[in-house]
Amino acid sequence: MRQSIGLILLGAGGHAKVVAELARSTGWHVAGFLAPASGQGGSNLDAPLLGDGRDLTADPRWLEEHDLFPAIGNSEVRWREFVRLTAVGARIPSLVHPNAVVSSSARVEAGVVVMAGAIVQADAMIGPAVIVNTGAQVDHDCEIGAGAMIAPGAILCGGVHVGEHAFVGAGAVLVPGIRVGKGAFVGAGTTVVNDLGDGTQLKASRRTHGTSTAG
Ligand SMILES: CC(C)(COP(=O)(O)OP(=O)(O)OC[C@H]1O[C@@H](n2cnc3c(N)ncnc32)[C@H](O)[C@@H]1OP(=O)(O)O)[C@@H](O)C(=O)NCCC(=O)NCCS
Repeated sequence: MRQSIGLILLGAGGHAKVVAELARSTGWHVAGFLAPASGQGGSNLDAPLLGDGRDLTADPRWLEEHDLFPAIGNSEVRWREFVRLTAVGARIPSLVHPNAVVSSSARVEAGVVVMAGAIVQADAMIGPAVIVNTGAQVDHDCEIGAGAMIAPGAILCGGVHVGEHAFVGAGAVLVPGIRVGKGAFVGAGTTVVNDLGDGTQLKASRRTHGTSTAG
């Protein structure tokens, strides 16, 4: 088993800043960031930019001595980077903020970040490279598919299923047992009371049916 001497983050934007802070609060040494220089979100929290990340094997020490984490808010890019990390055999942890609550019976896959104030309840399943963002609530028996984003303050009641690469906007409410299809989009503040098929975009609340379009 290789020894890890720290964590390298892919991405250096706003999301990466939050992930870096979270990682440090759980005891990780953040060794640096891999990102295009143009992707930097200002403060990099005292860790160096190690490279643009195009070649993950450019420095063998990155993979030999570190864990790596896709710290990118954009879900498409995050998933692409997660796949690249997996392909080169990177060790990819999951990161849970000390002030998040995650049930011991929940399953949290690699590349997941559970932000401050979030709650993940019993028997929930959080797939790889998912973001459970600040203050989001994922109740018992929910299933969140790979690469999905659960934005700040979203509430997923018990038994909700969110498909792979779906986006649940800030403050959205998904009533118990709802199924959100793969790649579906739920706008901020939306209350979802009917299942959404794959690729569906529900941009506003259920009272304005006209804004719900299958894509
Ligand atoms: C739905 C969303 C993508 C906007 O879609 P859009 O098609 O670009 O919409 P527009 O900005 O052109 O707005 C169109 C109308 O819908 C309204 N609207 C936009 N988003 C809305 C929402 N979530 N709920 C209710 N109304 C909304 C706008 O006020 C506007 O109304 P108007 O025509 O009366 O002025 C966006 O508002 C949203 O919800 N994004 C998710 C943000 C989020 O949760 N981010 C998390 C980051 S971690």
